[in-house]
Amino acid sequence: MIKIRKATKKDIIPASDLVIKTFVKFNSKEGTKRGVQEYMNHHDPKKNLDQIKQQFPKYKIFLVAEDRKKIIGIIRGSESRIGNLFVAGKYHKKGIAQKLIKRFEKIAKKRGSNKIKVRSSLYASGFYLKNGYKKTTGIRKMHGLKLQPMTKRLK
Ligand SMILES: CC(C)(COP(=O)(O)OP(=O)(O)OC[C@H]1O[C@@H](n2cnc3c(N)ncnc32)[C@H](O)[C@@H]1OP(=O)(O)O)[C@@H](O)C(=O)NCCC(=O)NCCS
Repeated sequence: MIKIRKATKKDIIPASDLVIKTFVKFNSKEGTKRGVQEYMNHHDPKKNLDQIKQQFPKYKIFLVAEDRKKIIGIIRGSESRIGNLFVAGKYHKKGIAQKLIKRFEKIAKKRGSNKIKVRSSLYASGFYLKNGYKKTTGIRKMHGLKLQPMTKRLK
């Protein structure tokens, strides 16, 4: 049974582990060697735990997907922007990201937001298109990574 819930401080390390493991598997060809390495270092709890901990309260929305107490997906950001969305590879295409994004949008809307932006990975842009997001520009390069800016109006 997959459960979606708010993240707590105890989730900081497993969530970061999930981010780097999933990123290296699915997104590491989407940037320069240096850009990919910097992203990994930034999110690696073994290398950057203090900053990762400091960042935690800054996410206005931070949800996790859990399978029998194991973190298998995360989404976090603010009411107007998705920062990170990751689902463990073993659990892909089972509707888990869709559950996470729907809950994220519901909370954002309840808090007064009418639009959500995301700088999608190239890998995930098909997922966002399926979920009502539209490309706002061409592919952009940021911090050595290729990203696809997208947006969705919340109805
Ligand atoms: C993108 C990601 C979060 C999707 O997670 P997921 O749990 O597999 O997605 P879902 O199962 O909820 O997919 C929902 C729908 O989108 C489709 N979809 C999922 N991933 C897709 C992809 N990469 N490209 C195109 N369509 C995709 C699914 O087929 C499904 O469509 P359906 O309803 O017609 O069956 C996951 O692949 C991931 O973690 N990728 C690596 C990290 C990443 O790129 N994150 C985005 C950072 S902005």
